[in-house]
Amino acid sequence: MALEAARILVRTAQEAIARKGVFTLALSGGKTPVPLFRLLTSAAWTQAIGWDKTEVYWVDERCVKPENQDSNYGLARRELLAKVEATRYYRMKGEEAPEKAAREYEDLLRDHFSLACGEFPRFDCVLLGVGTDGHTASLFPDDPALREGKRLVMDVFSRRQPPPRLTLTLPVLNNARCCIFLASGRLKHHILSTALNLMAAPLLPAQMVRPRDGDLCWIIDDNAYQG
Ligand code: 6PG
Repeated sequence: MALEAARILVRTAQEAIARKGVFTLALSGGKTPVPLFRLLTSAAWTQAIGWDKTEVYWVDERCVKPENQDSNYGLARRELLAKVEATRYYRMKGEEAPEKAAREYEDLLRDHFSLACGEFPRFDCVLLGVGTDGHTASLFPDDPALREGKRLVMDVFSRRQPPPRLTLTLPVLNNARCCIFLASGRLKHHILSTALNLMAAPLLPAQMVRPRDGDLCWIIDDNAYQG
């Protein structure tokens, strides 16, 4: 999985850098991306992505301090960013009041992507996971945030998965050039049988990620596939 994801990431990065001189990448949290992060820091891969031309953003963040073990930024910093020459990364400020942090990140995205009113940032690559309930990013089933059509970033609260969180919205995810889902382990098998049914009306947040003008890649391991 990590190898396949790394290949797609590197190809996407090289294309973006060749085309516009920068690669914009948005990272999710959770445990699944860790093998990919570690592979990208290995000797064979550490130079594969032009990290000096890469801007790293976050798909979502838990409303905790960066040093908290639940911080998605903290995870990526420990496992990836501190070990490659990435210097251009822009975290969601989990330590701030959620609504304020969401608005600040929206302002940061509008500035960095030079967005006009009503426009959405177009990330070159968005790395996503899927929960056993079908959530992705911090977009949980039946959450009103799933119906948001204007905001770029929202603060959400899921009783099932406290603490409060910050998340990119579906219009942002679906504006990406490439969304890569990683799903591993038997626990994900059940939800994948629904999440991967892209012909059906989307019921789960993970099913609602369908880039309008971009690639959608699901990378799953045998355990997740076979159950
Ligand atoms: C988060 C992630 C979340 C994650 C899924 C899967 O902040 O928790 O962004 O969407 O991708 O919960 O998590 P695992 O990879 O740990 O199964």
